[in-house]
Amino acid sequence: MCGAKTALRKNATLAIGAQAAAAVLLVGTAVLAAEGAARQPGSAAPTFYRDVLPILQNHCQGCHRPLGIAPMPFVTYGETRPWASSIAYCVKAKKMPPWFADPRYGRFSGDPSLSPAEIASVGAWAAAGAPAGDPRGAPPPRHWAGGWSISQPDTIVQMPAAVKLPAHGNVDYTYEIVPTGFTRDAWVRMSQIRPSSPQHVHHAVVYVRPPDSKWLRQAPTGVPFTASSLPDAQSRRDAEWTDSDILLVYAPGSSPDQWPAGMAKFVPAGSDLVFQMHYITNGHTASDQTRIGLVFAKQPPGERVLTLELTNDRFVIPPGVDDYRVEVHGTLPNDCTLLSFFPHLHLRGKRFEYNLVHPGGSIETLLRVNYDFYWQLSYRLAQPRFLKAGTELQAVAWFNNSRNNPHNPDPGAAVHWGDQTSDEMMVGFFDVAVPASMDKWQFFVRRPRTVPK
Ligand code: HEC
Repeated sequence: MCGAKTALRKNATLAIGAQAAAAVLLVGTAVLAAEGAARQPGSAAPTFYRDVLPILQNHCQGCHRPLGIAPMPFVTYGETRPWASSIAYCVKAKKMPPWFADPRYGRFSGDPSLSPAEIASVGAWAAAGAPAGDPRGAPPPRHWAGGWSISQPDTIVQMPAAVKLPAHGNVDYTYEIVPTGFTRDAWVRMSQIRPSSPQHVHHAVVYVRPPDSKWLRQAPTGVPFTASSLPDAQSRRDAEWTDSDILLVYAPGSSPDQWPAGMAKFVPAGSDLVFQMHYITNGHTASDQTRIGLVFAKQPPGERVLTLELTNDRFVIPPGVDDYRVEVHGTLPNDCTLLSFFPHLHLRGKRFEYNLVHPGGSIETLLRVNYDFYWQLSYRLAQPRFLKAGTELQAVAWFNNSRNNPHNPDPGAAVHWGDQTSDEMMVGFFDVAVPASMDKWQFFVRRPRTVPK
């Protein structure tokens, strides 16, 4: 993940042994000399408990904790100590925490980036030999509800049947329809998708199917199926396209939903949740049983959150081109408050932008992501933005289909839209808040505007 990986890892592991201590000290001296000027004369080196642990709690433990998505927890001193030099390197190089928004555009509430002072503090700590310090100076430990990053879910909806995955080859999108059994309408304030086999999940989308929806009605419930296994043409079309509301999208590194106060997603009584799973194979057979945890709003919110998308599925990326631009526009049919973004591309994805196109044509960039296929994050505006009906939104993606893209599976191919990662996608998901009584279909019906006389 952090480049110079092997060297750092070796260093970190060796640091436990006596032999390596000398090496660490040497590195330490060099860094100290470089940073000495910036430090207050006479100030003691930062310590784990007083200086580093608060940073780890606020910026790292979301992933680096037992049951978190990172392979090694950074909760105790013993766990963290062997990684000290690697941690210092990763934060200095801004490889960790993962974050890909271009800092020139927009401000985002989940931005985990460290301040220059925090980066310097971590560096000075590692350089000083990663001292523990006094445990009494430690902040209170953060509590995590098991593997959940949201608070303890009020309910967990799990795919009843595990999906068996082969060791090799492409797996068609796999669906599982799960009745919620909700006897009352539910407002979901937080949600998190947790695959049981995350290394096999490229992405997951959980849709809400209200009781009056005709979508996939001929498909079986509670067992996995693919489009091609469905008996009739309408069902197969259904599996390929829906306008059903999305509860949550999951991809590697993506964060759970946590809506601002007074906003939530709506799941009508008697709805089913439809899990759409895109699995990848990695040489080992596996089985996956994904679940979604839901935290309900204590009272009905004033606003309902809808997930919409700007999608272009009609591009052809020529072979070898390293900066191919694809765009799509949309006009908001009604007023709404823009909350967050989640761009989705495949292996050739390079950059993604969301823009407002102002009347007169000037462009205001809301978010630019230097796209990384292995880290698909959501970006939540620090200040939700009210947008009037008629506002034009634009999404632009750039693709690198050349040989200098190390992820490119085939630089010789002309690439089209498709499900598999060797195909491409161009989807700009975004979340908006609308009045609580409005659903997605009503949102797309343009309301007549009252024109002042
Ligand atoms: C969004 C989740 C996430 C957050 C937040 C995060 N990490 Fe990581 N980190 C990971 C994952 C996953 C890996 C393993 C990836 C890999 O090595 O391919 C990793 C790997 C690392 C590594 C090992 C790199 C190597 O050389 O193998 C270090 C060191 C690290 N993280 C430090 C940090 C620090 C320090 C923070 C906070 C300032 C942080 N991470 C925040 C997910 C995260």
